[in-house]
Amino acid sequence: MEIPEITLEDLNPSDFIAAQVRAISETVGDGLAINALSGGVDSSTVTMLGHRALGDRLRTYFIDNGLMREGEPERVVALFRRMGVPVTLVDARREFFSALKGVTDPEAKREAITQTFYKTVFGRLVRESGARFLLQGTILTDVEETVAGVKRQHNILMQLGIDTEAAFGYTVIEPLIQLRKPAVRAVARALGLPPEVTDRPPFPGPALAARVIGEVTPERVAVVRAATAIVEEELSGSGAFQYLAILHEDRVTGLRNGRRDFGLQIEVRCWDSQDARTGRPTRLPYETLERLAARIATIPGVVSVTYNITPKPPSTIEAV
Ligand code: XMP
Repeated sequence: MEIPEITLEDLNPSDFIAAQVRAISETVGDGLAINALSGGVDSSTVTMLGHRALGDRLRTYFIDNGLMREGEPERVVALFRRMGVPVTLVDARREFFSALKGVTDPEAKREAITQTFYKTVFGRLVRESGARFLLQGTILTDVEETVAGVKRQHNILMQLGIDTEAAFGYTVIEPLIQLRKPAVRAVARALGLPPEVTDRPPFPGPALAARVIGEVTPERVAVVRAATAIVEEELSGSGAFQYLAILHEDRVTGLRNGRRDFGLQIEVRCWDSQDARTGRPTRLPYETLERLAARIATIPGVVSVTYNITPKPPSTIEAV
């Protein structure tokens, strides 16, 4: 199925907003819709569109899957409350970690997250709320990567021929499906979302699980979460498109307090890119790399920090 793109040049944000608000109202009628807010620009934009269209007939949830960045659940819920959008925090950590237990294959991990998200958690929320619609922020790039077989993006369902009505009991509405990231940011600004949302680097739906090679356990996520916080602090002023930390599965011999330590490896990636379809590693100053290494090596167990110098393709932005 070919989806016609609305490019940044062709986009008129206020016309787009009016058209999508109308379309959401017509589709949902006087029923209820639910949506998941992660705090990223796509889901934040969809939340605001849905809120404009449906008011309190939109139920917005933040699903704490245990894979989010430090302080993220509380930060996102507080920000949207300040903007008058109530958000319910759902603790689903146990469900996600039990689905991920023992899973190491990248596509199997993505599938476990998809099933837990759409079937277990959203299936339950739909049944409890009586909603028949799920609003979500799928964008054109997500569809292309999945259809091209690069990565199964967690939010691609209908484009893979999945009947969400039959599989999960609700219809999915995707107001941003014709846009790429720069156009979504323009719509987000026109909706009045603050720069901390509109200018945020992209963050993948599978969250930190996309950055853990091998099994995703609470302990391993804690390591990559600590490294991510350091990378984001050090690189937020770099002007790069996206920057992240990856936890490798292989251990390497290191030296700590004068003793051999067979420890963990963290890989830092920092990307120059327009829309994530291709990318080049940012030429970071060596002093920045040294600071990253020094700080990340203070995380218990980490003995090696590397920097990715491979462009996409053949690399991809995330590791899983
Ligand atoms: P890759 O790793 O495929 O990432 O080069 C391209 C862009 O997409 C983000 N990404 C995802 N976004 N669901 C999403 O919503 C996903 O499953 C997913 N996987 C990767 C990634 O962060 C990058 O910006």
